[in-house]
Formats: sequence, C-alpha cells, structure tokens
Amino acid sequence: MAKITSRHKIAKSFGSASDSYDISARLQRYCGKHLMPWLPNRNDLTVLDLGSGTGFFTEILASRYQQVIGLDISKNMLKFAQENRHQAISWLEADAYKIPLQNNSVDFVYSNLMIQWCDPLNLVLDEVMRVLKPGGLFVFSTLVEGTLFELKSSWAQVDDDQHVVDFKPEQHIRSFLDGVDRKLLNAKQQDIILEYENVLHLAHELKSLGANHVPNKKSKGLAGKDKWQKMTTSYQDFIEPNNIYPATYKVFSGLVVKLSD
Ligand SMILES: C[S@@+](CC[C@H](N)C(=O)[O-])C[C@H]1O[C@@H](n2cnc3c(N)ncnc32)[C@H](O)[C@@H]1O
Repeated sequence: MAKITSRHKIAKSFGSASDSYDISARLQRYCGKHLMPWLPNRNDLTVLDLGSGTGFFTEILASRYQQVIGLDISKNMLKFAQENRHQAISWLEADAYKIPLQNNSVDFVYSNLMIQWCDPLNLVLDEVMRVLKPGGLFVFSTLVEGTLFELKSSWAQVDDDQHVVDFKPEQHIRSFLDGVDRKLLNAKQQDIILEYENVLHLAHELKSLGANHVPNKKSKGLAGKDKWQKMTTSYQDFIEPNNIYPATYKVFSGLVVKLSD
C-alpha cells in the first residue's frame, strides 16, 4: 500500500512538470539517444515505451516501427504527449507494475530513465518479461548509486533527513537482469556530469523534470532558509574553477533478451 501511495506521488510530481519537462530534459535526451544503437533493425515490430513521459522518444520510435505504445502513470504527461506527438501512437495510462497488455505480445520494450522510480524493481522487470515475446528485447537506461552525490553530501552536512533519492547500486540492478527467462546481452555505465550556474539552478531543473520527489524524506515541504544556505555553502566544495556547479549522474544502460522456453 505504501509503495502504491508513493507511485501516486511520483505520478503527481511528473504530471505537474509536463509543460516544463522538454526544455529541461537534457539528461533524458542524452541517455535516450545513447540507447539508439541497441534498437532492433526490423521495422515490423510492436514496441512499448515504458514510462514514455512527454513522448519525445515514443515519437522517434513510431517513425521506425509499425506499432508503438506509450505507457505512463501520469495523466498529465500522457495528455501533453497526445497533444504534441503526431505519429500514430497508442497511449496507455497505466502502472509499470501492471502493464495492460497480453503475455508474449510485444517485440521490444524501450524504457529511458524510468525504472529508477520502481521499487521493488524485480516486479517491474518480471512484468516486462511477461509482455515480451520470446526473443524480444528490453532496452533501458537508469540512474544508479552515486547519482547527485554532490547534493547528497552537501545536505548530509546540514541534517540527517533524506533530500536525494537513494538510487540502487548497479550490482543490485544487474542481479535481476540474468535469469531462467532472460539474459543481459550488453551493458554500460557512464558518469554524466552536468553543469549548473548555482545550486538553485540544479534544484529548479530537478523540479521542472518532476524528479524532485524523494520517497523517504521525513520533513515535508521546503527546507528553511538557514538550512538551504548551509547546504549551498557545502556544495561550494565541488565548485569548478570557472564557477560552475557540477552534478554527477551515474547512468546504467542495458540490453536484455527474453529467452525462449
Ligand atoms: C524521467 S521521466 C522519463 C520520460 C521519458 N522516458 C523520457 O525519456 O523523456 C520518467 C517517467 O516515468 C513515469 N513513471 C514513473 N513511475 C512509473 C510507473 N510505475 N509506471 C509507469 N510510468 C511511471 C513518470 O510519470 C515519468 O513520465
């Protein structure tokens, strides 16, 4: 029950960001494009974009594949996608934990920067394997432990609340990617360091991406001015010579095949 409430909060947080998302989504763009070399070459395929957001990549997939379905838990994200994407795409408002598609019905599942919001992750991966046809592919990117470590350690100087999502270790994710019904064919981990003018710029970007929901945060609402000031002072330890504030995103991507029986 607690997990489902948390998923509603994630949906709300992304939903309120649907209009600002595309201009702030530089990390998502970068990661989504880096998955392209793993895309299958045949075009007579049924494809599911899991956590399709504003539909930026769903539209690219629809220009290549016969039948494309964009699935997202956020009503507002789907509304934005339906109004702004022009290819023939079927949109589904649904939870990745309960994909409303039949067993063995999809050739290829694409999921860019969505599964980091899924806890427990193994249930979503089981659901992906259920809808994939044998021999079908799952291509994903996600964020792993160490992401936003600058922000995390700066907040740790201030209080013991949780201000940054606890991203899972890469090994933990890998442990779900090989099994009797699946095999990890290819994987890579990249550190992407984005530059910000100041910490407020970083905070605004996370908010405009809807990525500011922290499931285990104890205190509600914004931190007080004193705490914020203390945190930004600590962040200066990471500042680069040209006065740029860096933020590290540890991106893990993979290509998984569903094995035949
Ligand atoms: C960071 S955005 C990525 C959007 C898109 N894939 C892109 O590359 O721009 C993550 C998306 O996953 C969706 N999402 C989060 N948890 C979900 C869940 N349990 N089921 C379906 N969608 C979910 C959010 O609503 C949001 O639109």
